[in-house]
Amino acid sequence: MTPLNSYSADHRVLVEAAAKAANLTDPVAFVAGGYVYGLVGNAIRGELVPLEGALVRQWVTRSKYYPATTFGVRLYKLDGIAFARAVAFVDQNYDQNAYDIFVVARADYVKLFRSVLRVSRAKVPESLPPVLPPEQLDVLKQNTLGYLDRNNLKRIKDLGGRPKRGLLLTGPPGNGKTSACRWLWEECRRTGHEYQIVSPDAYQAARRSCNPVQAVRDLFTVHRSGVIFFDDMDIALRDRNTVRETDDQAVFLSALDGIQVNEGVVYVFTTNCGLELIDPAFKRPGRIDLVLHFTLPDAGLRRKLMDRWHTDVRAGIDLDVAVKQTAGYSFAEVEELKNLLILRYIDTNLWQWEWAMDQFKENRSDLAEQHRHVGFSPVGAGAGASTNGNGDGH
Ligand SMILES: Nc1ncnc2c1ncn2[C@@H]1O[C@H](COP(=O)(O)OP(=O)(O)O)[C@@H](O)[C@H]1O
Ligand SMILES: [Mg+2]
Repeated sequence: MTPLNSYSADHRVLVEAAAKAANLTDPVAFVAGGYVYGLVGNAIRGELVPLEGALVRQWVTRSKYYPATTFGVRLYKLDGIAFARAVAFVDQNYDQNAYDIFVVARADYVKLFRSVLRVSRAKVPESLPPVLPPEQLDVLKQNTLGYLDRNNLKRIKDLGGRPKRGLLLTGPPGNGKTSACRWLWEECRRTGHEYQIVSPDAYQAARRSCNPVQAVRDLFTVHRSGVIFFDDMDIALRDRNTVRETDDQAVFLSALDGIQVNEGVVYVFTTNCGLELIDPAFKRPGRIDLVLHFTLPDAGLRRKLMDRWHTDVRAGIDLDVAVKQTAGYSFAEVEELKNLLILRYIDTNLWQWEWAMDQFKENRSDLAEQHRHVGFSPVGAGAGASTNGNGDGH
């Protein structure tokens, strides 16, 4: 054991050396505990400075989290606040953390702590919803998260309302149906609601089990309040190789109707099919209460999408031209153009919008040769029905 007086003298040396290296007046020493990753992970790393004339560099991976020295002082800045970490692994008998302390000027001590709290909290941000017309986003939010709000649910029940709600998201591919689901389930996770995602595969497996009605019912049940997503439901319901479609719809609908709801549940179904192709029995109120149509973005929404692009990308192109030339494109197609643009930039160091447009059209015409048929639509009528604007269809 090191006698206490020499142990504290060692610590004074560390504090003084760190304060001197970082030019800190009236230094305060601290250990960061659980905040250490928030602190050093978000700070700008400065140089390494010798401690008592000695410096040992340490090779580390993920270096932003480590001082990368076993003997020395590492300088940092967070939100413009200078601080330092003094490290001295002096004796193998010591806990490695014994001689490893942070030092900051007293005047900045509280400020630094607040900064760490702020950046640590910023780690779980609200996730970004897809770009939608504001009214549509409101309707979506109100009918899902708003509906599940404890106070609302209670009032609905008290007034004798149905604690079940069905939403159908429709529209041509690539305009944010799946993105909206993804955003909603992130929000469920953040706000503590249950959620369940039913995949076409899981649905098919339930259908083939020996008690299909019960198995399907289980898939579509949450125990507390929550949201159940059935993305691309038409693909699951119309797998003609596995089940006869009329029979399948009936099983599906009776399973849905038979579910006992404990607190409150929202069903969110998505499909690329036009509404007219969807079984009227399914669309009946009580099963589907609300249909939200995800259409191709107008100029304003395309601009909003581009406003989310990296500043370098936006600075490299003429946004007015980009908005104008993408009339009739889906959100996903506009994103694909950005992707081509970036790949081209990596190759050539130039932002070439025209090149991206040409390349995009070329890729599209290659794909258009393989006629794909998805969903409810009869051959020749459906999947290609979304207008594509650039004249070559899907
Ligand atoms: N409304 C939107 N806002 C932002 N990005 C979108 C939007 N719609 C589509 N995208 C982009 O296109 C991709 C595919 O869209 P997706 O939501 O899967 O379309 P859908 O399910 O309607 O076919 C997304 O991952 C996203 O990058
Ligand atoms: Mg989708």
